[in-house]
Amino acid sequence: MDLQELKEDINGCKKCNLHKKRTQIVVGDGVSDADIMFIGEAPGRQEDKEGKPFVGRAGQLLDSFLEDIDLDRNEVYITNIVLCRPPNNRNPEDEEIEKCTCYLDRHIEIVDPRVIVPLGSFATSYILDKYGIDGGTISSVHGEVFTVNNLKGSFRIVPQYHPAAALYNPDLKKVIYSDFEKVKEVV
Ligand code: URA
Repeated sequence: MDLQELKEDINGCKKCNLHKKRTQIVVGDGVSDADIMFIGEAPGRQEDKEGKPFVGRAGQLLDSFLEDIDLDRNEVYITNIVLCRPPNNRNPEDEEIEKCTCYLDRHIEIVDPRVIVPLGSFATSYILDKYGIDGGTISSVHGEVFTVNNLKGSFRIVPQYHPAAALYNPDLKKVIYSDFEKVKEVV
């Protein structure tokens, strides 16, 4: 299966109630052979409108964190835990995450990144659980590097605070810039 086939499979998804209020499904953005995959929480208003992840204010911050480590959006892959916008940008619910993450799992299989960067607590707890890592909360694991060995070889997981957190708490910006350096070190 490739990304185009996955997109076709996801098209029209009604597995959870988020389909009722979405404008469109925000599948992901980037190249299928990316070395790094960023995983956010869920599309916001702008993403729901444009059909691309991280194109609003949090996206502008993500771009600047990427730029700081000499990465461009065109060389990474970006998706979310939940592919449809939760009403009023509320947190995704357990059932929505359960129903939607089969698509994230398939993204990971197809892109097969060398580094997975979960952004924020929802993506971090899903990814650490998926790979059987007993990591703890985002405030204890941000910027840490976890190595996973599997049949295909090994890859790294480097959890980060969600860029939107820095919109509300500007002091976090410095922390995130410094945590992003860890991503650069392991690519
Ligand atoms: N926040 C996210 O987690 N994902 C997006 O796509 C946009 C904002």
